[in-house]
This record gives sequence, structure tokens and C-alpha cells, in this order.
Amino acid sequence: MSGLRVAILGATGLVGETILRVLEERRTPVRRLVPLATGGKGRHVEFRGHTIPVEAVDQVRWDEVDVAFFAASNEASERYAPEAASYGVTVIDKSSYFRMDPKVPLIVPEVNLAAAGDARIIASPNCSTIQLVVALNPILLRFGLERVIVSTYQAVSGTGREAIETLHQEAKTSLAGERPEPSTYPVPIAFNVLPYCDRFMDENYTGEEWKLTRESQKIFGQALALSATAVRVPVYVGHSESVYLETTRAVAEEEVRDCLREAPGVRLWDSPSEGKVPTPLDVAGQDLVWVGRVRRDLFHPRGFHLFVVADNLRKGAATNAIQIMEGLSHRWR
Ligand SMILES: NC(=O)c1ccc[n+]([C@@H]2O[C@H](COP(=O)([O-])OP(=O)(O)OC[C@H]3O[C@@H](n4cnc5c(N)ncnc54)[C@H](OP(=O)(O)O)[C@@H]3O)[C@@H](O)[C@H]2O)c1
Repeated sequence: MSGLRVAILGATGLVGETILRVLEERRTPVRRLVPLATGGKGRHVEFRGHTIPVEAVDQVRWDEVDVAFFAASNEASERYAPEAASYGVTVIDKSSYFRMDPKVPLIVPEVNLAAAGDARIIASPNCSTIQLVVALNPILLRFGLERVIVSTYQAVSGTGREAIETLHQEAKTSLAGERPEPSTYPVPIAFNVLPYCDRFMDENYTGEEWKLTRESQKIFGQALALSATAVRVPVYVGHSESVYLETTRAVAEEEVRDCLREAPGVRLWDSPSEGKVPTPLDVAGQDLVWVGRVRRDLFHPRGFHLFVVADNLRKGAATNAIQIMEGLSHRWR
């Protein structure tokens, strides 16, 4: 990739900020950086030792941008992504707005990069979907999957910057012996567990649960039987998933482990006797999907359990988007 002109819509948010850090770490050849938000308001971002003013998105010159990461909101993606794409910008969108649009590819590079084709708008999946499909794909390819049941334990940073402050303040209030007033969530999240991540929709599943099912099916290109329970927990960074799966063909537990050990983007971390069990604190700040607790189901001959953990702001958002851009580097040669 020669020097790129990169815009980040939502540069002042949690995902936008993480995109900046990951671009720095990966030494991405950025010739010009255009940080965007609702309005400049005198704000700045730091990038490679430079202080760069944040611009209002409605002032941007899209003809001066090669690739744009959208990490703002559904409304912003709906409004600005088609406009940017009409100027030839490759838009990599972190919002959910385009994910189920049949014309828009939904990409996790370890699984289906080729599906990006020459699309100008490319969607990056929900954070909990990304880590799930990275862990399931090698098993699906080698042994087939009959069904999957996943229960998530999702960090508050998945809700954006405001939720980090909410957990912090609620924890302080609770430790002072008072019950916090709920703010970001309908009930307090500190010292609590919420058996839903967002709104209830069809069949009493939440939006987050439907995303896990439908986005996984779109990425795999098949109607995989996958049902989910998505739970919010008082963790700052790192989503965990307890995954139950049934393979199509009979396999030994060690074969499943070997398959995961060799899989792209996966770190098998599965030796409980040595303390090797993935937790959110282990994965925060790095890019692999950690998998542990691999074990056979006691009552089904082709059933297995896994525990899957990843940094939702990095592989679940920023890193996946940047890997998509890297996978399309031929566009800017
Ligand atoms: N957090 C995660 O783990 C995660 C994972 C996957 C996907 N996502 C998705 O990524 C996006 C950003 O999430 P986040 O967690 O970074 O949220 P956040 O911390 O709340 O930040 C939101 C950012 O978007 C900007 N923004 C919001 N509405 C805008 C608009 N209409 N026009 C221009 N800029 C606008 C905000 O700018 P101002 O400061 O000017 O308001 C801010 O920079 C969301 O679509 C979210 O669903 C998040």
C-alpha cells in the first residue's frame, strides 16, 4: 500500500480511538489522516506524535480520501457512506446499518475476505459475531457444524465510551453502600448481570442475539442453526462466549483442539492445570481470538464446549476493519 488518505468517522469515540492506535502499531502507511465527528468543537486526536484537529463530517472533501472507517452510528452511516462511496472511497463500516443489505459484503478476513469483491461499502460485523465466527470457521470447514448455541458475557465498552464511565460511577456508588440510579442501561450494571444487551425483538430474542444468528449465517453463506443469549456483564473490555456446538461428523476432542491450534486469528489457550484459561483481562489490548475450555459434551457424541474471548474494541471492531483494508491493499497500489 502506498501512502493512504484515511478518514475516521467517529474518531473521538472508543472504536475510533482504537483504530488510531492500531494504525500506529501496524505502521499502516497513512499519508493523510482526516478525523471526523459530529462537529470539530475544538477537539483534536493524537496520531504518530502529531495533534490533528477533528473536522465536522459535513465539511469533509471525500474526493481527498481513499479509505474511510465509519465508527459513529447507524444514522451517520446511512447518511454519509453512500456519499463517500460515490466519490470512490472504500468505506469500512462498523455500524450495523448495512450489515444485512444483500448488496453489502459482511467481512471477517480470516473467514470470507474474497466476498468483498470490488464493493465500495463493506460492513464489519458486530463485535460478538466476529470472535464467534473466527473460532467456528475452522471447525465448520473441517468437521461441519450441525448446530451452535452461544451465551455471551459482553463488556460495557461494547456500548461506547459513555458506558465505561457509567460502570465506574455505579461501582463507586455501590461501594459507598447506595444503590446507583441506572443511566446507560435500564438497571445498574455494577455488581450485576443483565440477561439482555439491547432491545427485545422477534421471538423474544434481542437485537444482539439476532445479529449473532443472522450475521454468522451471512458470513458463512449458509443457514447455520445458531441461537444465542447475549448478556452484559460488569467488565470494561473483552467479550466472552460460552459456545456449545455439534459437529456433522464424529471427531475426537484432540482433533478439535488441533484444528483450533492451527486456525488463523485463533490462540488456543487451553491448559487449566497450568492456569491457561482465557479471560477478558488476558485478551484486552491484543488482536487474537482466544479459545479454551475445549471439552466433549457428556451426553452427545458430537457435542463440544468452548470458551471464546476477544478484545471487542480491537478484533471486535478496529482491528477487523483494518485487516479488511489490508486485505484490499491491491486497490491502492
Ligand atoms: N464499542 C464496541 O465494542 C463496538 C464494536 C463493534 C461495533 N461498534 C460500533 O461502532 C460505532 C462506534 O461505537 P463506539 O463504541 O466507538 O461509540 P462512542 O464511543 O459512543 O463514539 C461514537 C463516535 O461517533 C461519533 N458520532 C456519533 N454520531 C455521529 C454523527 N451523526 N455524525 C458524526 N459523528 C457521529 C461521535 O462523535 P461526537 O463525539 O462528535 O458525538 C463519536 O466520535 C457504533 O456504530 C457501534 O455500534 C462498537
